[in-house]
Amino acid sequence: MRILVTGGAGYIGSHVVKLLGEKKHEILVYDNLSTGNSWAVLHGELLVADLADSTTLHNTLLRFKPHAVMHFAASIAVEESVHHPLIYYRNNTANTLNLLESMQACGVPNLIFSSTAAVYGTPQQVPIDENSEMAPINPYGTSKMMIELILRDHSQATPDFAYISLRYFNVAGADPEGQLGQVYPEATHLITRALKTAKGEFAKLQIFGTDYPTADGTCIRDYIHVYDLADAHLKALDYLQAEKKSGIFNLGYGHGYSVKEVVQAAREVTRVDFPTEETARRPGDPAVLVADSRKAKQILHWQPKYDDLSLIIKTAWEWEAKLPV
Ligand code: UFG
Repeated sequence: MRILVTGGAGYIGSHVVKLLGEKKHEILVYDNLSTGNSWAVLHGELLVADLADSTTLHNTLLRFKPHAVMHFAASIAVEESVHHPLIYYRNNTANTLNLLESMQACGVPNLIFSSTAAVYGTPQQVPIDENSEMAPINPYGTSKMMIELILRDHSQATPDFAYISLRYFNVAGADPEGQLGQVYPEATHLITRALKTAKGEFAKLQIFGTDYPTADGTCIRDYIHVYDLADAHLKALDYLQAEKKSGIFNLGYGHGYSVKEVVQAAREVTRVDFPTEETARRPGDPAVLVADSRKAKQILHWQPKYDDLSLIIKTAWEWEAKLPV
């Protein structure tokens, strides 16, 4: 199939492009390289362009005629979204609307959308299933929820259009073959930040909040390996082609680790007893996010292979070791 991948030069998109390429799909990556890297596009063609540029987007869809679009391009940092919400509504919400309008104008029938556990906000119960209410507590989550609502309405109004929305929990780790991984210089995610601290790039790792209603007082998250996450996209593509039905699926492993547990695991993997500092809560953080992903397993036939926190951290550490300080 021909697949247009927005954000395919980024962390998650590049892993999916690798898997799509191995399956011999024809790939066009559409990426403005604001956080992505051209070397990370291991298969297909890279077009350096912005989703805000409707003319280029439209012409690209007309020329390439994709069977489906996988849409990764987005801003992703929860705290940044609290301080700069308009960036999130522009990059995430408005640009996705551009994409949907161009897809409709060019007759592209399928979308796989990168959504997030942040749409749930502070969940009523955990693990969280897909029927839980969407009630985001930060602009990042709201920017993605808005698109989910647009997708729901658009798909109901447009019988020829079907989409899969994948709600990612905490994606971490790196390509087990060592070709790809996270490279944002301003790393904000816990595991990357911990490993960069172990490497000496930061003096200490801050632990944001120790007064949450959890066993050790720190936030709990469901960390999922980027390979398993990427693999779910290929399963979603198969499902869309076979069933032509829209759907929403959580992607996580169904169990969580606290910040302190992640710190402990990172110290064991790296064998570096890096320093930490307990600080105030970070704005926008819910206490516990753990996925109920049974639906993805049952309906998409998704079978995760890397459900092991130490393994996730190990692949990220091997990748981190290759990056210059
Ligand atoms: N944390 C620290 N110190 C750090 C970095 C993070 O204590 O230096 C804490 C955070 O406060 C949070 C946890 O570690 O409690 C995880 O934080 P991340 O920044 O790694 O990830 P988030 O949970 O904030 O967000 C990520 C993605 C979102 C997604 C969410 C879903 O960035 O897109 O997971 O669970 F919505």
